[in-house]
Amino acid sequence: MQIIHTIRELREWRKTAGRVAFVPTMGNLHEGHLALVREARQRADHVVVSIFVNRLQFGQGEDFDQYPRTLQQDADKLKGEGVAVVFAPDEKELYPRVEQRYNVEPPHLQNELCGAFRPGHFRGVATVVSKLFNIVQPEVACFGKKDYQQLAIIKGFVADLNVNVEIVPVDTGRASDGLALSSRNQYLSEAERAEAPRLYRELMAMAQAVKGGNLAYAELENTARAHLEAAGWAVDYIEIRHADSLEVAHAGDKNVVILAAARLGKTRLIDNIEVRQD
Ligand code: PAJ
Repeated sequence: MQIIHTIRELREWRKTAGRVAFVPTMGNLHEGHLALVREARQRADHVVVSIFVNRLQFGQGEDFDQYPRTLQQDADKLKGEGVAVVFAPDEKELYPRVEQRYNVEPPHLQNELCGAFRPGHFRGVATVVSKLFNIVQPEVACFGKKDYQQLAIIKGFVADLNVNVEIVPVDTGRASDGLALSSRNQYLSEAERAEAPRLYRELMAMAQAVKGGNLAYAELENTARAHLEAAGWAVDYIEIRHADSLEVAHAGDKNVVILAAARLGKTRLIDNIEVRQD
């Protein structure tokens, strides 16, 4: 496994590599990331994992400075996973000018759900993913359903800009109590960590209700919100949306996704469950 820090060296390596599957990350890798790497291995001769904490997708007052940077431990985890290249550029390598002048501008969906609470976030994500695709030039790239809105925006940008990369969604990796694995879980105190799986339990209860034919979506959303707030959470949103377009779901839509973001203390957690009945 090689660790490559510069675009020039990565491009040199790419010239002779065959089919490449790509897993973009911000590092601090956990089992959820490794599931993406294992999926990538099934789909190509070589796997490239990028590790880059992308300033462009963090808002003011967000955790860019605190975000855990653990390249050595990450590389150790990837060694056993058959990864050909870890691409770990520094900030100057990807953003040689302080300002990124040309950006990938997602449609209105970027201002909804998480985007309503994180202005500019999805533009920053789409822009860095576009840059990374142009550098790595993969045939396939894997993204987690954990970040469902991110996945939808990347699928949309790849389709609308004719980017020649197959996007492969991967199921959410969870701890045994249901909590979705996330680098941000380590910000939780012991008491918060014990409380955290409630988010998934509420989503599961909503999913059960929807599967059982309950069409009162607003009522389901309000009930889950009330349960979380009563347990001390600050809820950003809980919404039932159409699973593919992410438009507001209408009663009776066959495929929906229930998405939520909520804060426990200072830590913001997101999760979602797809309910597909087609
Ligand atoms: P990061 O949060 O490091 O996540 C990298 C990839 O791992 C994303 O596709 C994310 O959805 C996936 N992932 C994270 N936790 C997961 C889990 N519990 N189960 C399954 N997949 C999981 O997402 C980003 O980085 C960045 O926005 C990035 C796409 C790299 C652009 O900077």
